[in-house]
Amino acid sequence: MEREHVESDLDLEQTLFTEEQIVDRLREMAAEIDADYEGRDILLVGVLKGAVMVMADLARALPRHVEMDWMAVSSYGSGTKSSGVVRILKDLDTDIAGRHVLIVEDIIDTGLTLSWLVANLRSRHPASVEIATLLRKPDALQMEVDVKYVGFDIPNAFVVGYGLDFSEKYRNLRCIGTLAEHVYR
Ligand code: PRP
Repeated sequence: MEREHVESDLDLEQTLFTEEQIVDRLREMAAEIDADYEGRDILLVGVLKGAVMVMADLARALPRHVEMDWMAVSSYGSGTKSSGVVRILKDLDTDIAGRHVLIVEDIIDTGLTLSWLVANLRSRHPASVEIATLLRKPDALQMEVDVKYVGFDIPNAFVVGYGLDFSEKYRNLRCIGTLAEHVYR
């Protein structure tokens, strides 16, 4: 879905990143990751559902074989806010002991989900765990998370598109845009 397909949608305020800007940045991140992991195999772990598009483009930008696995987690909490209490809806299919795990995320908001996830994965004795996220909101962080690869730092606005949803809508929008405040307040 292109921006013009929802142009009449007044809920979508402005385009933050075009598809081209996103893919260009993911290519840069992939080059950095490929160099950093020289001589080591990578297991990409995508966090459903938001990370689907990031995973697809980041994985394809990597000039090497990678394995992919997926987790689905849900945070207990109300509305749009994370609580930090997370439950696993779908666990990994892979035993990650001794593996180099790179978590692939669309966005780090409060940091609560990722800090829980990193601790959970570390308890399974991987060789390493790092995080690659397309977006990060520095002003919303409640929990310090050590993130190795960040696409873009963004302001504390509600963003949708490129996997990111509002009530399951906008995930298939190619660009990333901001949602008008009245929609989610
Ligand atoms: C988003 C995102 C992260 C989490 C980040 O997922 O993909 O997993 O929120 O938020 P936090 O830093 O405040 O914990 P969401 O719960 O919206 O699920 P989805 O990926 O299925 O849309």
